[in-house]
Formats: sequence, C-alpha cells, structure tokens
Amino acid sequence: MRRSAKRSQRGPNGAKRLGSAAIAGRDSTIVERLKRRTMGAGSFSGPCLPALFEHYALKLARLFEILDRPLEGAELAKFRELFQQKLGEGFAATPYARFVFAYRPLESNPQAISCEISVVTPSLDEQYDEWLEALGSSEPFGSRADAKVVDVARSIAEQGPHSVLDAGAGSGRNALVLARMGHAVDALEPVTRLAGALAESAAAERLSLKVIQEDLLSPDIELDAGRYGLIVLSEVAPHLAAAELKLVFEKLGPALAPGGTLLLNAFVAHDDYRPTELARQAAQSVWSTFFTSRELAELAAGAGLELIAREHVVDYESRHLPAEAWPPTPWFVNWATGRNLFTSGAGAAPIELFWLTYRIRAAS
Ligand SMILES: C[S@@+](CC[C@H](N)C(=O)[O-])C[C@H]1O[C@@H](n2cnc3c(N)ncnc32)[C@H](O)[C@@H]1O
Repeated sequence: MRRSAKRSQRGPNGAKRLGSAAIAGRDSTIVERLKRRTMGAGSFSGPCLPALFEHYALKLARLFEILDRPLEGAELAKFRELFQQKLGEGFAATPYARFVFAYRPLESNPQAISCEISVVTPSLDEQYDEWLEALGSSEPFGSRADAKVVDVARSIAEQGPHSVLDAGAGSGRNALVLARMGHAVDALEPVTRLAGALAESAAAERLSLKVIQEDLLSPDIELDAGRYGLIVLSEVAPHLAAAELKLVFEKLGPALAPGGTLLLNAFVAHDDYRPTELARQAAQSVWSTFFTSRELAELAAGAGLELIAREHVVDYESRHLPAEAWPPTPWFVNWATGRNLFTSGAGAAPIELFWLTYRIRAAS
C-alpha cells in the first residue's frame, strides 16, 4: 500500500492537524510545501484482538496524519478493511497473535510511503520459550504440587493406587508428586521444553510416569474409556477458549473411571459482572480465559459431569500449603486474582481462579 503527501485540514477524528496551531499566516504555506519532504519509517505492533479494531484503526489513521500522509476516502476504507481482516485472521490462529504495521518511504518515490500489515502467530512452544526465557526460573510454576491436587490424590489413594492423568502437566510439579504417591501417571504436555524437563525428572527417580508430548485438543489423543481415577488440569483452562474447554470436557468425562474425579482450576467471572467481547478476547491473550458459572455448568452438563466442589484457589492454597511454599511463584497471586487482565482499579478484579471438582453424573 502507498500513500503520497497531500494537503488535509482535518484529522481522522475531525480534529485540526497537529502543528498547525503553532505556525500561522504565510508560514503555514511553507510548512505545507515542506510536508512533501518529511519522512518517517518504523513499525507499530499490538495484540490481534478484533474487538480493538476501531481503537487501533484510529491510532493508525493518526499515525498517517503525523507522517503528513493522511488517509482519506477510498484509501482509508481499503486500509480499514485490510486491517480488520488481518486482526481476524491473527486472532483465529491464536489469541497471542500480534499485528505488525510497518511503514517507510518508498524507494522509487520517497514522497510516498509504503506500508504493510503482517501478523505474527507464535506456536505454544514459541510462547512458552519466550515466557520461560523472560522468567529465567527452573521452577516456572513453583516447586511444590498444588495443595488441592495432593489432598484429592491422598483421598483416592486410600482405595489403592489409581491411573491418573495430568493434562498440561508443565514441568511436572503435580505429576511427579502423584507418581511418588504410587499412582500410575500419564503426563500430557505439548510444550517440548516442559515435556523434556518432566521426562528427565521422572527418569531420574525411575517413577511410574509416562510423558506424552501432545496437545490435549489434538484428534490424535484418544483416551481409553473409564481409565482414570483422577484427571488433573491445573492452570490449563486459562489457556482454552470456550469451544476448546467443551472439547476437553467431552474427552475427559468418558475417560474417568466409575467414581473418578476431574479436578481443574479455571477463572470464573463474578455473578454481577457482564463481560464485554473485548474482555473475553483480551483474557485469552494473557492466559486468563474466564467463564461465567452458567457457561461452566452448561459445558459440564453437556459432558455428563457434575460439580462436586468449588473453592477459591488463592484462599485454598494459601491455607493448605506450608507457609514457606506460599506463594508458589512471584506471579501467582496477581494472576490467580485476575490482575493479568484487570491490572488496576479499586477492589477485586471481576474474575478469579477457582478449583472445580467434577464427577460423572450418576444415572437417574
Ligand atoms: C501454567 S502451565 C501449568 C503447568 C502445570 N499444570 C502446573 O500446574 O504446574 C499451563 C500448561 O498448560 C499446557 N497447555 C496449554 N494448552 C494445552 C493443550 N491444548 N493441551 C495440553 N496442555 C496444554 C501448557 O503447555 C502448560 O504446560
């Protein structure tokens, strides 16, 4: 796309163009003339959230304005259409997608500006590589198992060892403890680096723990019916869109043994909170996807699951973990209380992480 320098009195929002107030009289005609010789190059990037289309489109229109190449009429309409399409494509590929708007003078005609909108869609491996590098910790999710996971695993261990699935096991803080308790653990983890670390730890202790490097959503993952006495998904649901959690429930429900337990944690919206489309999209982009109680009830019921218990994660873990193990990581409390999404403002964020314990609904 190209844009040439031209005269325009008003910006995209109807405001007078920047700088015109400071230079008056005949000087303003000189400034108009010199605009042909102003030049700029750079890039502007942001999360590909379709709900932010108007917000970003206005910013970019202002940028064209600042570059003395205001967009108008058919050109503006074409630019908006392309930009909206790119945001949609990116978000559909992954909620972590970013758009990159790059601009520079056209080589063959420096009075014109050449610009391009591209979309970067990092894989889960790439997202975790970047996060782990930035975090720089060998125990990115903490050094201890979740207190709730240990409590549930202990209660079922009274009936003897079980087959247990830890889905989205990360580097294995829960899976390793479950295996040490004598359960036969399948640990499913798609991220190469995390699955590798988990396999190494399990091999070093010769634990009964099988690492499966796969995405739970993959059609290749078919779980044996009635196999698991316990299925754990800790800190995984905040990665999943509603349609994905539906698929996960539908896969995991039939894999539970009779009387088996599905234990997961998920962000639940306060009952009086009415989420906007922007909040829902942005939540997915910061690993904080949330659901309303009603949405969760519908998803669970659709998979024949019954909610047995619901506990506030920060309350539960802070009361049940040893004092020296709380908080599990420096980021945990902020994240689990919704502060990755709602960074500021008075009072609690309207989403918080809860432990949800499900069983297969008894036939009536
Ligand atoms: C915040 S980490 C928690 C890891 C571990 N459960 C724990 O509590 O220490 C979230 C994990 O979910 C995994 N995950 C995300 N999407 C997944 C999917 N579709 N299938 C399986 N695992 C997934 C990630 O790879 C990551 O290991």
